[in-house]
Amino acid sequence: MTYTLITGASGGIGQALASKLAAKKHNLVLVARSAEKLALLSQQLQADYGVQVTFIAADLSKPDAPHHIYSKTQKHNWEIDLLVNNAGIGSGGEFATLSLQSELDLLQLNNASLVAMTHLFLQPMRERRKGQIINVASMTAFMPVPYMATYAASKVFVRSFTEALTEECKPYGIDVLLFAPGLTRTNFNEAAGINNEKAVGLSSDYKTADAQTPDEVAQELVEALAAKKRFHVAGSKNRFGARLLTLLPNAMIAQYMASSYQKKLAKTAN
Ligand SMILES: NC(=O)c1ccc[n+]([C@@H]2O[C@H](COP(=O)([O-])OP(=O)(O)OC[C@H]3O[C@@H](n4cnc5c(N)ncnc54)[C@H](OP(=O)(O)O)[C@@H]3O)[C@@H](O)[C@H]2O)c1
Repeated sequence: MTYTLITGASGGIGQALASKLAAKKHNLVLVARSAEKLALLSQQLQADYGVQVTFIAADLSKPDAPHHIYSKTQKHNWEIDLLVNNAGIGSGGEFATLSLQSELDLLQLNNASLVAMTHLFLQPMRERRKGQIINVASMTAFMPVPYMATYAASKVFVRSFTEALTEECKPYGIDVLLFAPGLTRTNFNEAAGINNEKAVGLSSDYKTADAQTPDEVAQELVEALAAKKRFHVAGSKNRFGARLLTLLPNAMIAQYMASSYQKKLAKTAN
């Protein structure tokens, strides 16, 4: 039986995507750390849509997690024909003041585990000469972001890695999609420790900034997948912004972003 595996499916964009794909009759393997949330969601999706939904609780900031997930799917003969590398975490604030371990864990989750999951699940897809992989990046994949330096750099990696992989996978009939959401109202800020003040500085405050809902973003992802796109930025304003960003020098963007953050923080302090 074929399955779609979604990482980061216990909330936010991943959960919204799981519902949309279950409605389209995809059998699902859901991955995240929160076993209870995954168990509940699996039961609900199975009942609502009559598809097979199973889950693997795993912490993808640990290097052995991708192998554990892959072995489990092999053991149960769950053939993964669509892999969605969506799990990710952010961080915000002055780099030197952030916990080094948290920054390294972020890279393990956003980059190393994404590479490992892709490598592992690509092998059987190549043998079958069929499969789809979606890597979730961000608008930050198009720019350096002072005060969100490590997260933005991690998404630049996802963008470059995925765009290169798309071409390598073409001869094997495997479609690879780079999906870049803009600001989306999820648990992202809270999980990243981006408090109100930092969120204002980064123009990512859900109360004031223009943000999409996880449902809207997941809908765009499903449509991009159906259209076999290689690249999609969610939201029309973000698409325009991403185009503009590729035309501007990175140094100019970084300077502007740093000064904007500093001014906004100074304002909130007064
Ligand atoms: N929200 C935005 O504004 C935004 C914008 C651009 C891009 N994105 C990207 O979109 C993706 C989804 O983010 P989201 O906004 O939906 O955030 P979210 O609401 O915080 O959801 C993140 C998901 O990843 C899982 N996760 C976090 N750490 C994990 C770990 N160590 N191991 C396994 N799973 C882990 C979480 O589940 P558990 O806590 O249960 O593990 C949750 O299911 C991320 O790659 C993010 O970078 C988000």
